[in-house]
Amino acid sequence: MKVLITFRFFDEWVKKIVESGIEVIQWKEEKAPPKKWILDNVSNVDGILCTLNTKIDKEVISAAKNLKVISTYSVGFDHIDVKEAKSRGIRLGYTPEVLTETTADLIFGLILAVARRIVEGDKLIREGKWMIPWQPDFLLGYDVYGKTLGIIGMGRIGKAVYRRAKGFNMRVIYTSRTKKDDIDAELVSFEELLKQSDFVVITVDLNESTYHMINESTLRLMKKTAFLINASRGKVIDEKALVKALEEKWIAGAALDVFEEEPINKDHPLLKFSNVVLTPHIGSATFETRHKMAEIAVENLLRGLRGEKLIYEL
Ligand code: DGY
Repeated sequence: MKVLITFRFFDEWVKKIVESGIEVIQWKEEKAPPKKWILDNVSNVDGILCTLNTKIDKEVISAAKNLKVISTYSVGFDHIDVKEAKSRGIRLGYTPEVLTETTADLIFGLILAVARRIVEGDKLIREGKWMIPWQPDFLLGYDVYGKTLGIIGMGRIGKAVYRRAKGFNMRVIYTSRTKKDDIDAELVSFEELLKQSDFVVITVDLNESTYHMINESTLRLMKKTAFLINASRGKVIDEKALVKALEEKWIAGAALDVFEEEPINKDHPLLKFSNVVLTPHIGSATFETRHKMAEIAVENLLRGLRGEKLIYEL
């Protein structure tokens, strides 16, 4: 059996694959591999282990004549042509659950950072601009405790954010295809959520129906004092519209872990706003979680090669 690993991966986990008697072709550079490298190497592999940085589209899937399993080291799978893979009977593994709490921690960190101006305060001190010890009107932000939190998409991560919000005595409203009876939160329409929330948190997958769901007309529904938080996929937000909303002060600010293009360009207009907190797609980036994800991604791969059911299968 032969597998293609499309990213720099922890040595111990590559070793585990090799020790299972599998031949590995691996891309070892930091940058994602070019499409040509994938196409040149995929033709006779039995498995692919990839991240969200590698597009596994119809062309790649068609070129991989022996492919039995695609295991992605991520919970998101918008980089994979799922329909095409399934139509060819290829198994698809991903890594949900293990990153839920970690991602919710980051989302809450973003809420606090942007509302309480934590990054601005840090920058100001480092730049030697903290001149007067304490002033009544210095670096005022917004309360988080007791506010209304709107969660778009009440899946695993949405619920983990909800649990944290309850500790902050927040009123939680949400949108979802189905009503959740195990939480004390109100299911509302998308429009109502945008109108009522002090913090709008996006936790949906990227797909045709969520692409640019936050755009000029939906941003205009948000309160002037509200913040937009996104740690799902960048393309859920139309960034041009968000820049306009920030320039014209339709909303109070934003905190973003994901972007339409990653890495975000250093000249991107979003970087000029002090009321925007930016992190480089680190929702699941803790030692513990990235290792748990690795364990599941490798196990999914090995099970798929053996023709067994995966731990988490799409
Ligand atoms: C994912 O897993 O899809 C996240 O975006 C990164 O962990």
